[in-house]
Amino acid sequence: MLARLFIAVFGVILMTSPIAAQVEGPKPFGKTADGTAVETYTLKNKNGVIVKLITLGAAITEINVPDRAGKVANVVLGFDDVAGYQSDRNQYFGCTVGRVANRIAKGKFTLDGKEYKLAINNEPNHLHGGIKKSLDKVVWKKEYVGKIGTGVGVQFSHRSPDGEEGYPGKIDVDVWISLDDENRLEIRYAAETNMKTPVNLTNHSYFNLAGAGADTVLDHGLMLNADRYVPVDKTLIPTGKLDAVKGTIMDFTKPMRIGDRIEKLYDTGAKGYDHCYVLNKAATRLAARLRDPKSGRVMTVTTDQPGIQLYTGNFLFGQKGKDGKEYKLRSAVCLETGALPDAVNQPAFPSIILRPGETYRHACIYAFSAE
Ligand code: GLA
Repeated sequence: MLARLFIAVFGVILMTSPIAAQVEGPKPFGKTADGTAVETYTLKNKNGVIVKLITLGAAITEINVPDRAGKVANVVLGFDDVAGYQSDRNQYFGCTVGRVANRIAKGKFTLDGKEYKLAINNEPNHLHGGIKKSLDKVVWKKEYVGKIGTGVGVQFSHRSPDGEEGYPGKIDVDVWISLDDENRLEIRYAAETNMKTPVNLTNHSYFNLAGAGADTVLDHGLMLNADRYVPVDKTLIPTGKLDAVKGTIMDFTKPMRIGDRIEKLYDTGAKGYDHCYVLNKAATRLAARLRDPKSGRVMTVTTDQPGIQLYTGNFLFGQKGKDGKEYKLRSAVCLETGALPDAVNQPAFPSIILRPGETYRHACIYAFSAE
């Protein structure tokens, strides 16, 4: 009886709040250099927000959102075709990153007394999961298309075999990317393993809220809900300490112009902000807020993760992207949620080791508005 009542009430709620957001696809996006077909999906909501995804790297290729006057623009860097994504112009634009996002010192770690060696693809360190089979480089399988949480989207899945890119264990990874009618773009990750192995996934979207290809993001305002950050050496490896941001150029606890103090970092290995912030506990409500004063576009980030990497596009080099637009130095900002960098070699940082029988989980919501 109670169950039937619950179904009746729940059914009414569902009927009175239908999801207007829709997902289209798959449509062909092209072929990789080795001939694998890449597909694209389009998510649309009732406010004119349009998000595009591809199976290569389970990547977000476009996020089109209105400004304060209702004018829609794409706010993430990307390419028109597969060749662009497979070229060296692509610095992880919009893709899912792993098995371990961010840097691992000297490409080495020891687990249960055994040393594992990984590719050194960012001298002298390992970056973003490796070279050929890192999660951004592989074509993911579409597992499901339709309703996800409060919106609609696509579930991508990928199996990485034992030893791939030097990592122990076979892992099965799922990523759900969905859009709802509140302009929330939600990314959820899950992973399982058959051997102890490190896992730290993220999404590497590059945002410019004035529109991809616009001027630098130095005028964007940024708030980070973080009292501490991870100081790094000149190769961007953590020193092992967590420093307070208070009174330093790293402090974004109150909204600050990104460009206000960034020049002090130009002569460092990072060439700007390229640092992980330790999120305060309340960050499950709001981790970051980014605002472009010209367009009025605002993006908030919420996550269940301990850290967020602030990267201000310091290695963009004027490469040509989507629609022939040029992506000049510091013309986009990444806010990558996840674990703290080099956690496998940093005893004081929260562990990123996944064990058989456990499930790695991570949620990140990018929400868009204008003011
Ligand atoms: C990350 C790193 C940066 C840079 C970009 C890709 O976010 O922290 O240093 O390597 O990826 O170019």
